[in-house]
Amino acid sequence: MDMSQLVGNPQSVRVSKIISDNERVRTLVFPMRLTDKEIQPGQFLMVWVPGVDDIPMSVSMWNPPNVGITVLPVGEATQSLTATAERQWLGIRGPFGNHFDPQSGRVLVVGGGIGIAPLRFLVYRLREVGADITFLMAARTAKNLVFVNEFSKQAGKKIRVKIATDDGSAGFKGLATDAAEDLLRGADFDIMYTCGPERMMAGLYRIASQRRIQFQASLERFMKCGCGICGSCALDPTGELVCLDGPVFTGERLAQLNEFGKYCRDSTGARKAL
Ligand SMILES: Cc1cc2nc3c(=O)[nH]c(=O)nc-3n(C[C@H](O)[C@H](O)[C@H](O)COP(=O)(O)OP(=O)(O)OC[C@H]3O[C@@H](n4cnc5c(N)ncnc54)[C@H](O)[C@@H]3O)c2cc1C
Ligand code: FES
Repeated sequence: MDMSQLVGNPQSVRVSKIISDNERVRTLVFPMRLTDKEIQPGQFLMVWVPGVDDIPMSVSMWNPPNVGITVLPVGEATQSLTATAERQWLGIRGPFGNHFDPQSGRVLVVGGGIGIAPLRFLVYRLREVGADITFLMAARTAKNLVFVNEFSKQAGKKIRVKIATDDGSAGFKGLATDAAEDLLRGADFDIMYTCGPERMMAGLYRIASQRRIQFQASLERFMKCGCGICGSCALDPTGELVCLDGPVFTGERLAQLNEFGKYCRDSTGARKAL
């Protein structure tokens, strides 16, 4: 493998479309050249915002050759991305990482906040493989939700959409974990897929384990290189790298991690409680 391949074939892309998903979140769409690879749901790109930073972003849309990333502004790089104009240039590397394994049974997909982004892509892939899908979309308040209108239009096409908000401003009032338990009282599922705040995912993992439901979760850790060089995304105690060995982990692999649901590391490598 040459150096260019190792670091994810860097390329410049020009943003072709920007979609407002709510007051703050934006989806940026751009065409990408992929030589020998498809993009799979759960994979991510390293996005270089010129003069600012190089940050990981999940793929929320893959409609070849167009790729979408869905960005919540939290700091300098993500604010620059959500302020991007059409026709502006970005630097892209990837796709990186492993991916969700879409299965065709009764599936419960649970997204929290901006964690819904990679699940959008997954849900469409699950529909292609014939899964019976319940998509639980959770956020703190109704105005933090994304893709609700899009998926409400899919109702009846093998996708049941459920909403939960912490404050009850839309759908079920309560945490995503409470909403998932509520759904599990009325239905059986073979597998649960999730992405979102890690404490939410850890709670869902406990619920899934108690009921012997298969589990796949996408983790976030601080990433500098995105491609296995820097070690900033290593997990305790296995030393697995979220950028190479993840970001998607099965329940069996999560059970081996001391830090899942408890802590992560900042840019200096220091532990940070979740
Ligand atoms: C695999 C993966 C996929 C992601 N997908 C998405 C997505 O689809 N949409 C989205 O809005 N966000 C996503 N994120 C989170 C996103 O990368 C961070 O919000 C972003 O890097 C913050 O950068 P900033 O300069 O805006 O904020 P900063 O002020 O620099 O940081 C804000 C917080 O973001 C986290 N962060 C900062 N830099 C990084 C980094 N290089 N790697 C990981 N975390 C970082 C830190 O916890 C920090 O506290 C993803 C993260 C990972 C690891
Ligand atoms: S981000 Fe550098 S090794 Fe994972």
